[in-house]
Amino acid sequence: MDQNRIPPTVRRTYGADDLSTAPSFGGGFINFGYWQGMDLTAPTPEDRVHSQEQLYRRVLREFPEPREHRRLAEVGCGRGLGAALALREFRFATVTGVDIHPDQVERARAVNAKALATYPDRLAYTLGPADDLPFADGSLDGVYSVEAAQHFRELTGFAHEAARVLRPGGRLVVTTFFTADGPDVAERLSILLGSFADGLDVPHPLSAFTADLGKAGFGDVTATSIGADVWPGLDRYLADTVPPGHWSRNFHHAWRTGLLDYHVVTADLA
Ligand SMILES: C[S@@+](CC[C@H](N)C(=O)[O-])C[C@H]1O[C@@H](n2cnc3c(N)ncnc32)[C@H](O)[C@@H]1O
Repeated sequence: MDQNRIPPTVRRTYGADDLSTAPSFGGGFINFGYWQGMDLTAPTPEDRVHSQEQLYRRVLREFPEPREHRRLAEVGCGRGLGAALALREFRFATVTGVDIHPDQVERARAVNAKALATYPDRLAYTLGPADDLPFADGSLDGVYSVEAAQHFRELTGFAHEAARVLRPGGRLVVTTFFTADGPDVAERLSILLGSFADGLDVPHPLSAFTADLGKAGFGDVTATSIGADVWPGLDRYLADTVPPGHWSRNFHHAWRTGLLDYHVVTADLA
């Protein structure tokens, strides 16, 4: 893969400094977590990791049983713990984690060495960008992505690539934060949030992504808001782990004021 395809902010964020070690993530995963049913009084680092595993489970449950025959790929797999969880707990036939950053792929292979040895033909990690996936046409039953699509420069290419690699009837499940429609949404987000200001996160309107999926050949496109199970829990945890006034606390405000929301999007290839 041409390394110039990695946007500079993504290259920096997921390079030598392993973002997963930041106290706000703390434990290998790099997502905001799904906190449904969790006690938010005084969340511990173990709770934080649990929230991140729960986000994966929330996504993976969208692939109906039986799952044993399904060949899956995860796009933007980071350190690969979610792909290993998918195989271990959901018993898919194969799971291949894909990431654009070579350091992340290297970490995923190192961190999950034991799982790779246990499932040599069923678990793999490989380099690749979301809009040029390293799979043959129609070779997968499912594609999923957890809190990575906000980094993709555009989602039209991703929608087409997902459609290309899935077999007819195959399913795509994407979770991350999407923005509202509106002329000033992007500007307001970049004022509130450092990750939008520096270009790491791209403001993708939910309406544009669901339209892209339809144009790429997907049907039964659904988008479910899960913001109420993400932002309050995350913000409660951040209150104890980031300095007062840190911009990351503004995600909660951005959600409450309707600028963005966290969604699970599902789509089935016609
Ligand atoms: C916030 S992390 C999420 C990692 C993992 N899904 C998790 O929940 O722990 C986002 C990941 O997406 C990857 N990524 C960013 N842009 C990408 C692209 N265009 N194609 C594939 N992966 C990408 C990054 O390198 C990073 O590892």
